[in-house]
Amino acid sequence: MPANSESKRVLEVRRLNVEIPVPTGMLRPVQDVSLHVDRGETLCVVGESGCGKSLTSLAIMDLLPTKAERTCDEMQLSGDNVFHIGERAMSDIRGDRMSMIFQEPMTSLNPAYTIGNQLAEALQRHRNVSKAQARERAIYLLEKVGITAAAGRLGQYPHQLSGGLRQRVMIAMALMCGPDLIIADEPTTALDVTIQAQILHLLADLQREFQMGMILITHDLGVVARIADRVAVMYAGQVVETGTAEQIFNDPQHPYTRGLLDCIPIPGKTKRGARLGAIPGIVPSLVGHMSGCHFASRCRQVHEACEARDIDLLPTAQPGHVCRCLLTHGSGTAVRKTEGAAS
Ligand SMILES: Nc1ncnc2c1ncn2[C@@H]1O[C@H](COP(=O)(O)OP(=O)(O)O)[C@@H](O)[C@H]1O
Ligand SMILES: [Mg+2]
Repeated sequence: MPANSESKRVLEVRRLNVEIPVPTGMLRPVQDVSLHVDRGETLCVVGESGCGKSLTSLAIMDLLPTKAERTCDEMQLSGDNVFHIGERAMSDIRGDRMSMIFQEPMTSLNPAYTIGNQLAEALQRHRNVSKAQARERAIYLLEKVGITAAAGRLGQYPHQLSGGLRQRVMIAMALMCGPDLIIADEPTTALDVTIQAQILHLLADLQREFQMGMILITHDLGVVARIADRVAVMYAGQVVETGTAEQIFNDPQHPYTRGLLDCIPIPGKTKRGARLGAIPGIVPSLVGHMSGCHFASRCRQVHEACEARDIDLLPTAQPGHVCRCLLTHGSGTAVRKTEGAAS
């Protein structure tokens, strides 16, 4: 890898796996997940509910439930290994060099403390600054996230704020230390639709202004179309396709990605009134070992080889565009079986 691309790489995750023992066996919600994010880049992770998006981000933050085990080949933050470095070292990094924004702000906000105290604490935990300096940065960031009369808000408690304001405070808190990477896991799902759009625009603006790497997890492909630089599509615990937003929207290769795009109206890309598709079938259980393509049982183009062995992410004709499907030919040309021949 050339030196300049190494220096702009904020996150590199290679072959991440998560296993959780459950009463029916071993749940494998994250399987062979590789992701990378560069400085100033937004990677959107999309996929149906239950496909492993949240556990992937929790695994990166080292915040998995205690029973869960993770393995990976590589996990680096701005060139430094952050895998199995110990809880102490990890808690120095969390909230400092990488921060997470959760769906529900009360996951991160403590109801017993004023937001001023919590914002200041987020900085003072990691930096040797005075209370006055921390307060000043809190006011600066509250204004950045669009909260007016910010100084007057510092003495308020989380329950005195609306859901939208709480989410803005949580974003400010995540930014207190100027992180390299921010992971936002469906950050607006709990909010009203109009407020959702405002908060997502805000996040996109802040990401650009501060040149952070951002992973935005969402099931809203309309949002992805507007703010993603790159997209990772997850299905049943695996990344099945990754590429630039343009590659994914204009030239989707995986039958699941194509199905997903057919299902959801994309502003400016889906004709108004066009009939939406649906992917028949159900998501497979992630308990136990599954061999072959996870999408095989729902795929209209399935053939014998798909279920015979595990399938790796394969290159497509476009650089940076990879797809976990045998129909994507390793030589660089995408070969698709003609429909009908498969069934
Ligand atoms: N703490 C847990 N214990 C057992 N199973 C879990 C736990 N958390 C999530 N799961 C399961 O792991 C799978 C992936 O979950 P998750 O990462 O939350 O999906 P997503 O965020 O894509 O909706 C789901 O089947 C979910 O039920
Ligand atoms: Mg989730």
